[in-house]
Amino acid sequence: MEIIHVSAECYPVAKAGGLGDVVGALPKYQTLAGHTAKVVMPMYRTKFLMENEWEVVHKGYTNLGSWWFIYTVIKEKTNKLGFDLYLIDINGLLDREKIYGYDDDAERFTAFQICVVDWIAAWKHHPDLIHVHDYHAGLIPFMIRYCYRYQQLQRIPTVLTIHNAEYQGWMGWDKSHFIPEWDSWKTGMLEWKNTINPLASAVKCAWKVTTVSHSYLDELRYAANGLEALFEYEKGKCVGILNGIDTKVWDPETDIYIDNHYSIHSNKEGKLKSKKILCERFDLELEKPLIVFIGRLVGEKGADLIPQAIGDSFYYIGRKMNFLILGSGFPNVEYQLEGLRTLSKRDYSIYIGYNESLSHLMYAGADFILMPSRVEPCGLNQMYAMRYGTVPIVRNTGGLRDTVIDYGDEGGYGIRFNNPVVGDITQSVWRAVELYGQEERLDEIRTQIMQLDFSWETSVQQYLDLYQSLIPVK
Ligand code: ADP
Ligand code: GLC
Repeated sequence: MEIIHVSAECYPVAKAGGLGDVVGALPKYQTLAGHTAKVVMPMYRTKFLMENEWEVVHKGYTNLGSWWFIYTVIKEKTNKLGFDLYLIDINGLLDREKIYGYDDDAERFTAFQICVVDWIAAWKHHPDLIHVHDYHAGLIPFMIRYCYRYQQLQRIPTVLTIHNAEYQGWMGWDKSHFIPEWDSWKTGMLEWKNTINPLASAVKCAWKVTTVSHSYLDELRYAANGLEALFEYEKGKCVGILNGIDTKVWDPETDIYIDNHYSIHSNKEGKLKSKKILCERFDLELEKPLIVFIGRLVGEKGADLIPQAIGDSFYYIGRKMNFLILGSGFPNVEYQLEGLRTLSKRDYSIYIGYNESLSHLMYAGADFILMPSRVEPCGLNQMYAMRYGTVPIVRNTGGLRDTVIDYGDEGGYGIRFNNPVVGDITQSVWRAVELYGQEERLDEIRTQIMQLDFSWETSVQQYLDLYQSLIPVK
């Protein structure tokens, strides 16, 4: 099979979160399974772009409304990622450092998608399937089906994977002229609640829709940032496929970001060495359990609850644990978390920003990872943490629910709580401190979680079966 993935992120080219990790790994494992998987993404001005070799494979001329422009498609020359990687360059729109967060993101991602479809239409042979990820690629299933210009692509099946339905790419109808002329009877396929909604459009137009965990799919029918009714209506074509993790990148025995490698058998000493480095660097006390948070400091992740939960933990449980935070996001959350430093008695620290190598060291050196998410479509952090023997403390939602069983339940190994509220977090921190005190039980749990299999192989097969069900037998 030949599959084209279209995404705004792909690790290590450009990553803002888990979408990048998944699109950097899934195609690699599809290729290893004997298929041709390609990734197309925007050509941001990232370090990866500067440090690798490229060849120009296509130049095209197209338009975004009345603006006509030349775009260039380049391909990475050395198969560095284990699959074919293509970047689309549009001067003035994509030639920037950041992935998201510009006022003209609607223009940027619409133009990107037009170029992708234009370029594929120019091919002599067509791919077997186009797999689009999140709203940034969400207009493609519509364009392929209903834009006159791309009629020759109509029979190519499309699959949408929803990594996060909170972001939908809403655009006012004043931007409708950006989209190449379409069959006007199908205008409703672009629309949700009076705006152009690229994510809703993809749910309507893609042949199949997947979510990155089973529980998240169930949740979308009652909590989908306004799309609940759509998910209820389209449930027949939706399926949950749990993400895997790239066990080649995330491996405590070989991780390129940590110095002290360890295996299941040497996890105690190995983790302690990384913990020592963290404690020295952030002035924390080694003897206490180290609880970390890694992620975007936004409401979805429950980050706004953390400052008070830390304060309450110190107050009610005592200064029996360390907290270390890595992330950036809402300025008021950053401000409150920064402010907590003044309370610290060598038991709290924070690094504001994005730091890939520090995140690896934290997965390795921490005792627990806290994820109080309000919404968590899958969540990769808890899976990475477990591979490094770090016990997850998670809210019972989405992918966290599907991957973590409370250690109080049969066969369990993590700490799970039900509500995204300070009280539940504080109580879970207390349980973590208790568990840390039971050395033997903790050792058992660490060994157990390091053995859990979150590799991509199973999920890749589920995607391949899904694709196969859509591709006509030749
Ligand atoms: P999301 O994609 O919703 O942010 P995921 O759990 O799927 O959440 O993935 C988050 C990914 O981003 C993980 O690889 C995590 O280690 C990484 N990450 C998040 N914030 C940071 C940060 N500040 N520095 C380094 N890595 C981070
Ligand atoms: C999104 C979700 C996260 C998921 C990731 C990869 O960013 O918020 O839960 O793990 O995508 O699918």
